[in-house]
Amino acid sequence: MRKLVRPRSVELDGTRRRLAACHDVSDLRRVALRRTPKPVFDYVDGAADEELAAAGNVAAFRQWRFLPRVLADVEVVDTSVTVLGSAIPVPLALGPCGYTRMMHTDGEIGVARSGARHGLPYTLSTMAATGIEEVAGAMTGRPDLWFQLYILKDRSRAAGLVSRAADNGYRVLVVTVDTMVAGNRIRDVRNGLTMPPELSLHTIASVAAKPGYWLRLLSGPALDFANFAGRPATTILKSADFFDPGITWSDIEDLRSAWKGKLIIKGPLGPADARRAVELGADGIQLSNHGGRQLDRAVAPVDLIAPVREAVGPSVTLLVDSGIRHGADVVVALALGADAGVLGRAYLYGLMAGGEAGVDRALDLLTAQLRTTMRLLGVTSAADLRKRGRELITRGD
Ligand SMILES: Cc1cc2nc3c(=O)[nH]c(=O)nc-3n(C[C@H](O)[C@H](O)[C@H](O)COP(=O)(O)O)c2cc1C
Repeated sequence: MRKLVRPRSVELDGTRRRLAACHDVSDLRRVALRRTPKPVFDYVDGAADEELAAAGNVAAFRQWRFLPRVLADVEVVDTSVTVLGSAIPVPLALGPCGYTRMMHTDGEIGVARSGARHGLPYTLSTMAATGIEEVAGAMTGRPDLWFQLYILKDRSRAAGLVSRAADNGYRVLVVTVDTMVAGNRIRDVRNGLTMPPELSLHTIASVAAKPGYWLRLLSGPALDFANFAGRPATTILKSADFFDPGITWSDIEDLRSAWKGKLIIKGPLGPADARRAVELGADGIQLSNHGGRQLDRAVAPVDLIAPVREAVGPSVTLLVDSGIRHGADVVVALALGADAGVLGRAYLYGLMAGGEAGVDRALDLLTAQLRTTMRLLGVTSAADLRKRGRELITRGD
């Protein structure tokens, strides 16, 4: 019997055991659901109104089918790409997510460290629960930090954030332009999500249900919008008061002259808006509908890649987010003309499932999926995928 069956060693560390049993992003999502209070999980998992855009984003990636080439010697595969002048080992970046320290106390720093360990850029949100200086100060080596800006009603405060990002070595400024008003996130409204959590019957029930989460939270520093120190505490629902419905292209012009580094515009830009962004000096576009959290029924960003690439030409950096849950999604994105995919929920599920190690797990799984998909497709480099991509995919419907 011993010759036939080798007993597997038992992993004593609970987090490592749980993560090792996750084999794709939906496994991580399932563990996250089990380990996180419902209002927090819903804040991540939920989207605006009827959540049609959020579901549509995931479905749109999956509508594509591969047309593989065989006998192409795929022993060696080069997945690296250059994004805004920096080489990264896989075409992935970690996108900005507000309040990340609420998902798990490892928070923004844990995500940034995991990204850096994988050689990938991390984007800190304006609405982060860890400050610009704190994240930069916690990193070792040469991390590729990007900063995401919401153009606030208070323009001098926004300008302050931009210069703090520059002073602290953030290389890229990502300006989000789809949040002129808050999206109507029904799950948050129903759950009465407030920050910091208020002692309601709801909260008490979720404390009882997820004691591990609460113990961790209570042993760390209080949650707040760390980049707005000195401002009265607010709720996630009310934080939308920061945003300005009056933003225009002249704000982009102002930012272009203020920010010396690389500039990306993030939002659901069609060909005309993308061209305008580039004319005003943007170095890149991040096609996004905010994961369906803003305008419900907004077009899936993956469907904008080909027309926007056509409009802006081959050299403008084109990133895409919203709906990436598998390495094959990134292969589709590159085949259609994107330079890299940006992650949101995919890494947050990992974070909720197991902290920083869970983000590592998400990145490792996505990378392995990407490599295997490229090899089975008969492609040996990300550059080749970008070049020949349109011959390698077809619409499945
Ligand atoms: C919990 C959560 C918080 C987010 N916060 C921000 C933010 O502060 N700024 C921003 O530009 N985008 C924010 N986003 C949007 C992400 O950057 C990204 O566009 C989106 O998550 C991509 O969709 P996906 O999660 O379906 O992949 C957030 C997304 C989530 C899930």
